Amino acid sequence: MSQNISDQTNYWIEEINRLRVEKDAVILAHYYQQPDIQEVADFVGDSLDLSKKAASTTASIIVFAGVHFMAETAKILNPSKKVLLPDLAAGCSLAESCSAEDLKKFKIENPNHIVVSYVNTSAEVKALSDLVCTSSNAEAIIRSIPATKPILFAPDKNLGRYIMEITGRKMDLWEGSCIVHESFSLDKLISLHKEHPTAQIIAHPESEGFILDVANFIGSTSQLIEHVKTQECTSFIVATEAGILHKMQQVVPHKKLIPAPAKENNTCACSECGFMKMNSIEKLYLCLKNETPEITLDQHLINEALIPIQRMLALS
Ligand code: 13P
Ligand code: SF4
Repeated sequence: MSQNISDQTNYWIEEINRLRVEKDAVILAHYYQQPDIQEVADFVGDSLDLSKKAASTTASIIVFAGVHFMAETAKILNPSKKVLLPDLAAGCSLAESCSAEDLKKFKIENPNHIVVSYVNTSAEVKALSDLVCTSSNAEAIIRSIPATKPILFAPDKNLGRYIMEITGRKMDLWEGSCIVHESFSLDKLISLHKEHPTAQIIAHPESEGFILDVANFIGSTSQLIEHVKTQECTSFIVATEAGILHKMQQVVPHKKLIPAPAKENNTCACSECGFMKMNSIEKLYLCLKNETPEITLDQHLINEALIPIQRMLALS
């Protein structure tokens, strides 16, 4: 008799639990992963937390339930470990918007610029950067750079513009953006807020300026979760990828969390990252079982990309 879906899922979860012990593996997951993946993970966090966990783990295998640049960062920080990503095609529109060739060209034309790259970039782009940052520490990283130095902030123009506003620091911005965070509709958000006038609007800084302008709070995924936890307010409109609502609702079960509405989508109010959602519990099981797909990087590239990541971790 064929198994029904929940029996099948239970089997994958049981096998994941058995295999992680047998193989001494740790499962790291981003807040945008499917709820079942977040539940099975050893650690769920934002990009910075996940980098720190990857750097400090003693496990032999790191299974990264996230997107490609996150698993690459884990490999760079821990080159002796096997780093697995359930689906190698899990990319990122931001990482794709900045090629190493184009950045090389910029550096040749602008040799004095300090290049600060968002962690959402390829290992090759990190290797060309002076500093890496995440949305949790971008402000501190930019403030650490002497005022006389010109800065290129790549590739997220929305995060870059926001950091310019809060620090008063002028920067050159790469023309890149996140397709998910650019999907929010201001008109629909304002209408929704009229229906929930006491709700706070909270947003990830990858969102466009017109969304950030109306937000009561702006922060990384972990900062958004911390915010809803510590505020007296009992309802929030959340402008970031909808996967975050799983953990957020667990942290504040009694509060109302409303996903910010997307421009195009009339049937579903939420925005989901197709790259993050390429991972599934089945792929997680298969990748742990078969120890593939594996992230492999040239040792020279690892050495070069590690420098700006370590500078970031020292400043975080
Ligand atoms: P953080 O989790 O660091 O806020 O980043 C969000 C993101 O864009 C992941 O792709
Ligand atoms: Fe990239 Fe945006 Fe998806 Fe994050 S949410 S992985 S920035 S495309």
